[in-house]
Amino acid sequence: MSTRTASDTVPTSVHDVVAVGCGPCNLGLAALASTVDDLDLVVLEARPELRWHPGMMFDDAALQVNFLADLVTLVAPTHPLSFLSYLHDQDRLYPFTIRQDFHPSRREYEDYLRWAAARLPSVRFSHRVEGVRWCPEARRFAVHVVRGDGARLRMLAADLVLGVGTEPFVPPALAGVPGERLTHTADYLHRLSDVDKAGHVTVVGSGQSGAEVVVDLLRRNLAGGPSVTWLTRTPSFAPLDYTKLVLEMTTPAYMRYFHALPQERRDQLTAEQWQFYKGISTTTLDEIHELLYRRELEHGLADVELRCGVAVESSGTDARGRPVLTCRHRDTGRVFEHPTDLVVAATGYAPRRPAFLAPVEHLVRRDDRGRPVVRLDHSLELADEVGGCRVFVANAELHSHGVSSPNLDIAAVRNATILNAVTSREVYRLPKRTAFTTFAAPGGVR
Ligand SMILES: Cc1cc2nc3c(=O)[nH]c(=O)nc-3n(C[C@H](O)[C@H](O)[C@H](O)COP(=O)(O)OP(=O)(O)OC[C@H]3O[C@@H](n4cnc5c(N)ncnc54)[C@H](O)[C@@H]3O)c2cc1C
Ligand SMILES: NC(=O)c1ccc[n+]([C@@H]2O[C@H](COP(=O)([O-])OP(=O)(O)OC[C@H]3O[C@@H](n4cnc5c(N)ncnc54)[C@H](OP(=O)(O)O)[C@@H]3O)[C@@H](O)[C@H]2O)c1
Repeated sequence: MSTRTASDTVPTSVHDVVAVGCGPCNLGLAALASTVDDLDLVVLEARPELRWHPGMMFDDAALQVNFLADLVTLVAPTHPLSFLSYLHDQDRLYPFTIRQDFHPSRREYEDYLRWAAARLPSVRFSHRVEGVRWCPEARRFAVHVVRGDGARLRMLAADLVLGVGTEPFVPPALAGVPGERLTHTADYLHRLSDVDKAGHVTVVGSGQSGAEVVVDLLRRNLAGGPSVTWLTRTPSFAPLDYTKLVLEMTTPAYMRYFHALPQERRDQLTAEQWQFYKGISTTTLDEIHELLYRRELEHGLADVELRCGVAVESSGTDARGRPVLTCRHRDTGRVFEHPTDLVVAATGYAPRRPAFLAPVEHLVRRDDRGRPVVRLDHSLELADEVGGCRVFVANAELHSHGVSSPNLDIAAVRNATILNAVTSREVYRLPKRTAFTTFAAPGGVR
């Protein structure tokens, strides 16, 4: 239970678990924890309300996973915070089943997340975590929080769960583009006035984000909007590989197998498996082709150009202040300059290294590339002085658990694993068989 101590001028409460960040990962943790007896868990979110990638909230964008990959269903199908319960609550079950498309739109998924958050008193919005310290006297972590109204709070917890997501990555090659001429896809919809002003927009990168922005730009182009160039270093505008037996390599069974491999092999596999995460859905590729085809029947539209296998190596501006990208065509080595008005960096996301962890960084064991060592149960390996207290991570374990770690369809199993660990009992039964394929050699870990 929460208690207050008078040992400090800052109000202090004590909890079993403090979770930092309320994206889908930690919201799912709160949802699963809400039906566990005798567990005091709080989730702290800096933003005043739940938003899910608002700069990429296109009206027709769909989830890449089906509705069963909601906050709870894959470990607790009868849970009151399932997507089906949400549809039932909204009286939308019949329209949903008649629709026969079991991939909710991103807008609907966000609405579901907000519906669930509103039913979870453990979730506290406008609570930014500013520091985490190890407190040897209390044998707990002390979490320092600033609330939206400026109040400072201190929370003690034996276990932490970090679910702070990833951050937009802009490569050094784009550092020469002035800020007013550059946006990351994460901010794209907030920068539409700049798109409308530009005569020529260049998208760099061909993952799902780049492809969705290109769909939007092609629609604008058909309506008389700016010229579009789509450049990517990837050798082709490649699809995500979502074929059935390959998809088994995104299951908990594969994650368990992957975790047991030597780190060097894990790193090789992550690079080899790029088409499981760095590619474009076939629906979006079809849409892009259709829009390009429709352009053939129109006259007088601004130009559109697509180039794959092109790396942007550096950038600067011309005499008029327009961005100029220096690019290399990878098959021939030819270097060329590409002037444009606005650059959209569709160059992905990088792990966050939050400043609030600085006071406990020295307690975290790291591999030879400086990455935290993450155990199979998603807890970090920590120095002995921390005893039995743990820090779990969600969506920060690509290097240890493989390419499915950011995926929504792994979150419920990860959260159930974390809750079983923090309660030292099986509060959720984990699925034992999630793939037909056996990944290990005979006699090895499945
Ligand atoms: C546009 C887009 C669409 C995606 N669609 C899919 C999909 O369809 N299927 C799929 O499987 N994956 C998808 N992904 C990948 C992944 O599922 C999402 O990125 C997902 O949001 C990750 O959830 P998260 O909880 O780890 O992080 P986030 O959603 O990023 O949430 C992290 C939260 O932590 C908060 N925070 C950070 N620092 C602090 C602090 N100091 N104090 C308090 N709070 C803090 C942030 O404000 C944020 O709300 C998508 C990714 C993108 C970019
Ligand atoms: N609908 C959805 O569900 C949805 C929508 C958006 C995103 N997502 C998910 O979010 C994650 C991130 O996707 P993302 O599209 O933002 O990023 P991403 O998949 O990491 O793609 C980044 C792209 O940028 C390219 N790139 C990087 N630096 C470059 C340079 N200097 N020059 C040229 N190209 C460069 C990369 O090429 P290389 O291949 O050479 O590295 C790659 O094509 C993925 O898991 C994705 O599935 C999902």
